[in-house]
Amino acid sequence: MVECAPCYLVISSCDNMFYLKVSISVNNRKGAIMKLSKVLVLGLGVSLSSVSFANSAEVVEARALAKQFMGKLKPALGAAMKAGGPVHAISVCKDKAPKIAQDISKSSGWDIKRVSLKNRSPIAEPDAWETKVLNQFEQQQAEGMKPKNIEYSEVVQENGQKTFRYMKAIGIGKGQPCLHCHGTNLNDGVKQKLQELYPNDKATGYTVGQIRGAFSFKKAL
Ligand code: HEC
Repeated sequence: MVECAPCYLVISSCDNMFYLKVSISVNNRKGAIMKLSKVLVLGLGVSLSSVSFANSAEVVEARALAKQFMGKLKPALGAAMKAGGPVHAISVCKDKAPKIAQDISKSSGWDIKRVSLKNRSPIAEPDAWETKVLNQFEQQQAEGMKPKNIEYSEVVQENGQKTFRYMKAIGIGKGQPCLHCHGTNLNDGVKQKLQELYPNDKATGYTVGQIRGAFSFKKAL
């Protein structure tokens, strides 16, 4: 909260909404307005750098969509692994993952994808903002944060359009099948299939606990 006299200014935040109340004493209007604009710039400068979007409506929605994405992909992957092993499951991943992203994008109005600093799919190549955030995620993980708790959101200008962007880390958990296809000891069949489908694959050599990539969502505001 910021207050100043003779103008009276309150900036308070509630769930990421900023309410601005201003009243200026009549006998000192000009000076007060100048002061006010200074305080406003100062106040916004402080708040923008320290704003946490932790529970904004957009973040809550994006989190739910990420959960929905995982909730569809994981069982599909598990079933494919069970039915035909990792080589068979690779094609399921190739077809299913982008399809799920597309379906959820369509139903929610968000632009939804997965990205990685070491991407397998060419469509998972991160843009500059995503690269910055993925590097930040790596840093947070190195400092001891668990991938499942790592996320980031920001309002950015994209082509003159205010855009909400959200990313959530995807980790390689214990007891998950990830390393069959992203680990260090891939079987020959997997290696061959991956080479065939993804000649520029960078997504191997991982170990448990690492960040494999992230969900990346955006929406025009
Ligand atoms: C059966 C092999 C297989 C398994 C098991 C597997 N993946 Fe993948 N993964 C793939 C394939 C194939 C792609 C590329 C999909 C595409 O073309 O969109 C991929 C892509 C990804 C991507 C998108 C970024 C990129 O590099 O393209 C992430 C993130 C990811 N996998 C995480 C995981 C995690 C986490 C697990 C474990 C829960 C896992 N994968 C298990 C085969 C697998």
